[in-house]
Amino acid sequence: MENNVENKQQLPPNFHPSILQVLEQKKAIRKKLANIKHKIGIYSAKGGVGKTTVSVNVAYTLASLGFRVGLLDADVDCPNVTMFLGISGSFPDEYPLKPVDKDGIKVLSTAMFVDDAKKPIIWRGPMIGKMIREFFENADWGDLDYLIIDLPPGTSDAPLSIIQLLDLDGFVLVTTPQHIASVNTIRSGTMAKRLGVAVLGVVETMSEGGIRGASEVAQAMGCEVLGSIGNSRKFGELSDKGLVPVKEDAEIKEEFIRIVKKITG
Ligand SMILES: Nc1ncnc2c1ncn2[C@@H]1O[C@H](COP(=O)(O)OP(=O)(O)O)[C@@H](O)[C@H]1O
Ligand SMILES: [Mg+2]
Repeated sequence: MENNVENKQQLPPNFHPSILQVLEQKKAIRKKLANIKHKIGIYSAKGGVGKTTVSVNVAYTLASLGFRVGLLDADVDCPNVTMFLGISGSFPDEYPLKPVDKDGIKVLSTAMFVDDAKKPIIWRGPMIGKMIREFFENADWGDLDYLIIDLPPGTSDAPLSIIQLLDLDGFVLVTTPQHIASVNTIRSGTMAKRLGVAVLGVVETMSEGGIRGASEVAQAMGCEVLGSIGNSRKFGELSDKGLVPVKEDAEIKEEFIRIVKKITG
Protein backbone atom coordinates (compact mmCIF):
# COMPACT_ATOMS: atom_id res chain seq x y z
CA MET A 1 0.00 0.00 0.00
CA GLU A 2 2.72 2.41 1.06
CA ASN A 3 4.68 1.66 -2.12
CA ASN A 4 1.59 2.33 -4.19
CA VAL A 5 1.28 5.81 -2.76
CA GLU A 6 4.95 6.56 -3.17
CA ASN A 7 5.10 5.23 -6.69
CA LYS A 8 1.94 6.12 -8.56
CA GLN A 9 3.12 4.13 -11.57
CA GLN A 10 2.44 0.92 -9.65
CA LEU A 11 -1.25 1.70 -9.20
CA PRO A 12 -3.67 -0.24 -11.38
CA PRO A 13 -4.98 1.85 -14.32
CA ASN A 14 -8.56 1.90 -12.99
CA PHE A 15 -7.47 3.18 -9.57
CA HIS A 16 -9.76 6.12 -8.80
CA PRO A 17 -7.88 9.40 -8.03
CA SER A 18 -9.98 10.01 -4.91
CA ILE A 19 -8.70 6.73 -3.45
CA LEU A 20 -5.18 7.86 -4.12
CA GLN A 21 -5.95 11.13 -2.36
CA VAL A 22 -7.23 9.30 0.74
CA LEU A 23 -4.14 7.08 0.78
CA GLU A 24 -1.89 10.11 0.57
CA GLN A 25 -3.81 11.88 3.34
CA LYS A 26 -3.59 8.75 5.44
CA LYS A 27 0.15 8.50 4.90
CA ALA A 28 0.66 12.16 5.89
CA ILE A 29 -1.53 11.71 8.98
CA ARG A 30 0.29 8.53 9.99
CA LYS A 31 3.56 10.48 9.87
CA LYS A 32 2.09 13.44 11.73
CA LEU A 33 0.62 11.26 14.51
CA ALA A 34 3.63 8.95 14.81
CA ASN A 35 4.13 10.07 18.41
CA ILE A 36 0.68 8.94 19.53
CA LYS A 37 0.97 5.36 20.67
CA HIS A 38 -2.72 4.40 20.80
CA LYS A 39 -5.84 5.84 19.18
CA ILE A 40 -9.17 4.61 20.47
CA GLY A 41 -12.64 5.67 19.31
CA ILE A 42 -15.63 5.64 21.67
CA TYR A 43 -18.57 4.83 19.49
CA SER A 44 -22.21 3.94 19.02
CA ALA A 45 -24.53 4.75 16.16
CA LYS A 46 -27.11 5.73 18.82
CA GLY A 47 -27.16 9.17 20.39
CA GLY A 48 -27.52 9.71 24.13
CA VAL A 49 -26.11 6.34 25.22
CA GLY A 50 -23.13 7.82 27.08
CA LYS A 51 -20.34 8.05 24.48
CA THR A 52 -19.12 11.43 25.71
CA THR A 53 -19.49 10.34 29.34
CA VAL A 54 -17.37 7.25 28.68
CA SER A 55 -14.82 9.22 26.60
CA VAL A 56 -14.27 11.86 29.27
CA ASN A 57 -14.09 9.41 32.18
CA VAL A 58 -11.84 6.95 30.30
CA ALA A 59 -9.50 9.84 29.39
CA TYR A 60 -9.32 11.04 33.01
CA THR A 61 -8.83 7.51 34.34
CA LEU A 62 -5.98 6.90 31.88
CA ALA A 63 -4.38 10.18 32.98
CA SER A 64 -4.77 9.21 36.66
CA LEU A 65 -2.88 6.00 35.88
CA GLY A 66 0.04 8.05 34.57
CA PHE A 67 -0.60 7.95 30.83
CA ARG A 68 -0.24 11.01 28.57
CA VAL A 69 -3.71 11.53 27.16
CA GLY A 70 -5.42 13.52 24.42
CA LEU A 71 -9.20 13.81 24.06
CA LEU A 72 -10.64 14.70 20.67
CA ASP A 73 -14.28 15.70 20.36
CA ALA A 74 -15.11 14.28 16.92
CA ASP A 75 -18.77 15.22 17.31
CA VAL A 76 -18.05 18.12 15.00
CA ASP A 77 -21.53 19.66 14.76
CA CYS A 78 -22.82 18.91 18.29
CA PRO A 79 -19.66 19.09 20.39
CA ASN A 80 -20.16 18.38 24.10
CA VAL A 81 -16.72 17.57 25.50
CA THR A 82 -15.85 21.13 26.56
CA MET A 83 -19.15 21.41 28.48
CA PHE A 84 -18.53 18.05 30.21
CA LEU A 85 -15.10 19.34 31.26
CA GLY A 86 -16.22 22.84 32.25
CA ILE A 87 -13.90 24.38 29.66
CA SER A 88 -15.12 27.81 28.64
CA GLY A 89 -13.88 31.26 27.84
CA SER A 90 -11.72 32.28 24.95
CA PHE A 91 -9.48 29.80 23.27
CA PRO A 92 -6.07 30.36 21.71
CA ASP A 93 -6.55 31.59 18.17
CA GLU A 94 -3.67 29.53 16.83
CA TYR A 95 -2.95 27.55 13.71
CA PRO A 96 -1.83 24.74 13.64
CA LEU A 97 -4.59 24.02 16.15
CA LYS A 98 -3.46 23.86 19.74
CA PRO A 99 -5.33 21.48 22.05
CA VAL A 100 -6.32 23.07 25.36
CA ASP A 101 -4.69 21.59 28.46
CA LYS A 102 -7.28 20.57 31.06
CA ASP A 103 -6.00 18.72 34.11
CA GLY A 104 -3.02 17.57 32.01
CA ILE A 105 -5.25 16.21 29.21
CA LYS A 106 -4.98 17.73 25.73
CA VAL A 107 -8.47 18.54 24.52
CA LEU A 108 -9.62 19.64 21.07
CA SER A 109 -13.19 20.35 19.95
CA THR A 110 -15.06 22.36 17.36
CA ALA A 111 -16.68 24.08 20.35
CA MET A 112 -13.41 25.96 20.74
CA PHE A 113 -13.93 27.71 17.41
CA VAL A 114 -17.50 28.96 17.84
CA ASP A 115 -18.39 32.02 19.85
CA ASP A 116 -21.76 30.82 21.15
CA ALA A 117 -22.26 27.23 22.35
CA LYS A 118 -26.00 27.38 21.59
CA LYS A 119 -25.50 28.37 17.96
CA PRO A 120 -25.98 25.35 15.68
CA ILE A 121 -23.06 24.28 13.50
CA ILE A 122 -24.80 23.46 10.22
CA TRP A 123 -22.32 21.73 7.96
CA ARG A 124 -22.67 19.22 5.18
CA GLY A 125 -20.62 16.01 5.06
CA PRO A 126 -17.57 17.39 3.20
CA MET A 127 -17.10 20.14 5.81
CA ILE A 128 -17.36 17.58 8.63
CA GLY A 129 -14.73 15.47 6.87
CA LYS A 130 -12.49 18.50 6.38
CA MET A 131 -12.73 19.45 10.05
CA ILE A 132 -11.88 15.89 11.10
CA ARG A 133 -8.82 16.01 8.82
CA GLU A 134 -7.76 19.32 10.37
CA PHE A 135 -7.86 17.70 13.83
CA PHE A 136 -5.19 15.26 12.67
CA GLU A 137 -3.21 17.05 9.94
CA ASN A 138 -2.98 20.47 11.51
CA ALA A 139 -3.18 20.01 15.26
CA ASP A 140 -0.26 19.96 17.61
CA TRP A 141 -0.93 16.86 19.76
CA GLY A 142 2.68 16.26 20.74
CA ASP A 143 3.61 12.94 22.34
CA LEU A 144 0.71 10.92 23.71
CA ASP A 145 0.17 7.42 25.05
CA TYR A 146 -3.56 7.53 24.25
CA LEU A 147 -5.75 9.66 22.03
CA ILE A 148 -9.39 9.08 22.98
CA ILE A 149 -11.84 10.06 20.26
CA ASP A 150 -15.45 10.84 21.21
CA LEU A 151 -17.50 9.96 18.13
CA PRO A 152 -20.87 11.31 17.06
CA PRO A 153 -23.81 8.95 16.50
CA GLY A 154 -24.59 7.59 13.03
CA THR A 155 -22.60 5.51 10.58
CA SER A 156 -21.73 8.24 8.08
CA ASP A 157 -19.32 11.11 7.64
CA ALA A 158 -17.39 11.51 10.88
CA PRO A 159 -16.87 7.84 11.79
CA LEU A 160 -16.15 7.04 8.15
CA SER A 161 -13.49 9.79 7.91
CA ILE A 162 -11.87 8.61 11.14
CA ILE A 163 -11.82 4.99 10.01
CA GLN A 164 -10.41 6.00 6.60
CA LEU A 165 -7.72 8.32 7.88
CA LEU A 166 -6.46 6.81 11.13
CA ASP A 167 -4.79 3.60 12.12
CA LEU A 168 -7.09 3.11 15.08
CA ASP A 169 -6.36 0.53 17.75
CA GLY A 170 -10.10 0.04 17.66
CA PHE A 171 -13.48 1.15 18.97
CA VAL A 172 -14.95 0.84 22.42
CA LEU A 173 -18.69 0.49 21.85
CA VAL A 174 -21.20 2.06 24.23
CA THR A 175 -24.78 1.00 24.80
CA THR A 176 -27.57 1.26 27.34
CA PRO A 177 -29.68 -1.70 28.52
CA GLN A 178 -32.39 -1.00 25.89
CA HIS A 179 -32.68 -3.35 22.92
CA ILE A 180 -32.98 -0.40 20.52
CA ALA A 181 -29.69 1.02 21.78
CA SER A 182 -28.02 -2.37 21.37
CA VAL A 183 -29.30 -2.77 17.82
CA ASN A 184 -27.87 0.62 16.87
CA THR A 185 -24.62 -0.10 18.67
CA ILE A 186 -24.33 -3.38 16.78
CA ARG A 187 -24.72 -1.34 13.58
CA SER A 188 -21.66 0.73 14.46
CA GLY A 189 -19.67 -2.33 15.49
CA THR A 190 -20.55 -4.06 12.24
CA MET A 191 -19.53 -1.00 10.25
CA ALA A 192 -16.17 -0.92 12.08
CA LYS A 193 -15.53 -4.60 11.49
CA ARG A 194 -16.51 -4.40 7.84
CA LEU A 195 -13.97 -1.62 7.37
CA GLY A 196 -11.28 -3.57 9.18
CA VAL A 197 -11.32 -1.80 12.56
CA ALA A 198 -11.21 -3.86 15.75
CA VAL A 199 -13.98 -3.75 18.34
CA LEU A 200 -12.16 -3.64 21.68
CA GLY A 201 -15.27 -4.31 23.72
CA VAL A 202 -18.51 -2.78 24.90
CA VAL A 203 -19.48 -0.69 27.92
CA GLU A 204 -23.04 -0.52 29.20
CA THR A 205 -24.12 2.76 30.76
CA MET A 206 -27.24 3.60 32.76
CA SER A 207 -27.46 -0.06 33.83
CA GLU A 208 -30.36 -1.09 36.01
CA GLY A 209 -28.75 -4.17 37.54
CA GLY A 210 -27.38 -6.97 35.38
CA ILE A 211 -25.82 -6.38 31.99
CA ARG A 212 -28.43 -6.58 29.26
CA GLY A 213 -27.54 -4.27 26.42
CA ALA A 214 -23.80 -4.91 26.49
CA SER A 215 -24.38 -8.69 26.60
CA GLU A 216 -26.51 -8.43 23.47
CA VAL A 217 -23.83 -6.37 21.71
CA ALA A 218 -20.99 -8.62 22.92
CA GLN A 219 -22.77 -11.70 21.65
CA ALA A 220 -23.48 -10.19 18.24
CA MET A 221 -20.00 -8.72 17.82
CA GLY A 222 -18.02 -11.52 19.46
CA CYS A 223 -16.40 -8.98 21.77
CA GLU A 224 -15.85 -8.56 25.49
CA VAL A 225 -18.07 -6.69 27.94
CA LEU A 226 -15.63 -4.16 29.42
CA GLY A 227 -17.93 -3.09 32.22
CA SER A 228 -21.19 -1.50 33.20
CA ILE A 229 -21.92 1.83 34.79
CA GLY A 230 -25.05 2.01 36.94
CA ASN A 231 -27.79 4.50 36.27
CA SER A 232 -27.08 7.38 38.60
CA ARG A 233 -28.26 10.97 38.71
CA LYS A 234 -24.74 11.91 39.73
CA PHE A 235 -23.59 11.67 36.10
CA GLY A 236 -26.01 14.28 34.81
CA GLU A 237 -25.60 16.52 37.83
CA LEU A 238 -21.79 16.49 37.72
CA SER A 239 -21.52 16.81 33.95
CA ASP A 240 -23.97 19.71 33.90
CA LYS A 241 -21.60 21.50 36.29
CA GLY A 242 -18.57 20.66 34.15
CA LEU A 243 -17.27 18.22 36.76
CA VAL A 244 -15.79 14.85 35.83
CA PRO A 245 -17.46 11.93 37.68
CA VAL A 246 -14.26 9.86 38.14
CA LYS A 247 -12.65 12.86 39.87
CA GLU A 248 -15.60 13.37 42.19
CA ASP A 249 -16.84 9.89 43.09
CA ALA A 250 -14.68 6.97 44.30
CA GLU A 251 -17.19 4.29 43.29
CA ILE A 252 -17.47 5.58 39.72
CA LYS A 253 -13.67 5.87 39.55
CA GLU A 254 -13.31 2.23 40.62
CA GLU A 255 -15.61 1.04 37.82
CA PHE A 256 -13.75 3.09 35.23
CA ILE A 257 -10.40 1.77 36.44
CA ARG A 258 -11.71 -1.76 35.82
CA ILE A 259 -12.83 -0.75 32.32
CA VAL A 260 -9.60 1.07 31.49
CA LYS A 261 -7.43 -1.81 32.70
CA LYS A 262 -9.27 -4.08 30.26
CA ILE A 263 -8.77 -1.56 27.44
CA THR A 264 -5.06 -1.08 28.14
CA GLY A 265 -4.53 -4.77 28.81
N1 LIG B 1 -24.47 5.95 34.05
C1 LIG B 1 -25.25 7.01 33.84
N2 LIG B 1 -26.30 7.26 34.65
C2 LIG B 1 -27.12 8.32 34.47
N3 LIG B 1 -26.96 9.20 33.48
C3 LIG B 1 -25.94 9.03 32.63
C4 LIG B 1 -25.03 7.93 32.77
N4 LIG B 1 -24.13 8.01 31.75
C5 LIG B 1 -24.45 9.11 31.05
N5 LIG B 1 -25.52 9.72 31.56
C6 LIG B 1 -26.18 10.94 31.08
O1 LIG B 1 -26.83 10.64 29.85
C7 LIG B 1 -26.82 11.78 28.99
C8 LIG B 1 -26.25 11.38 27.63
O2 LIG B 1 -24.88 11.04 27.81
P1 LIG B 1 -23.79 11.43 26.73
O3 LIG B 1 -22.48 10.97 27.26
O4 LIG B 1 -23.91 12.86 26.34
O5 LIG B 1 -24.25 10.49 25.50
P2 LIG B 1 -23.79 10.53 23.96
O6 LIG B 1 -22.44 11.13 23.91
O7 LIG B 1 -23.82 9.08 23.56
O8 LIG B 1 -24.82 11.31 23.23
C9 LIG B 1 -25.97 12.83 29.71
O9 LIG B 1 -26.82 13.75 30.31
C10 LIG B 1 -25.20 12.05 30.73
O10 LIG B 1 -24.88 12.82 31.87
MG1 LIG C 1 -21.71 12.77 22.77
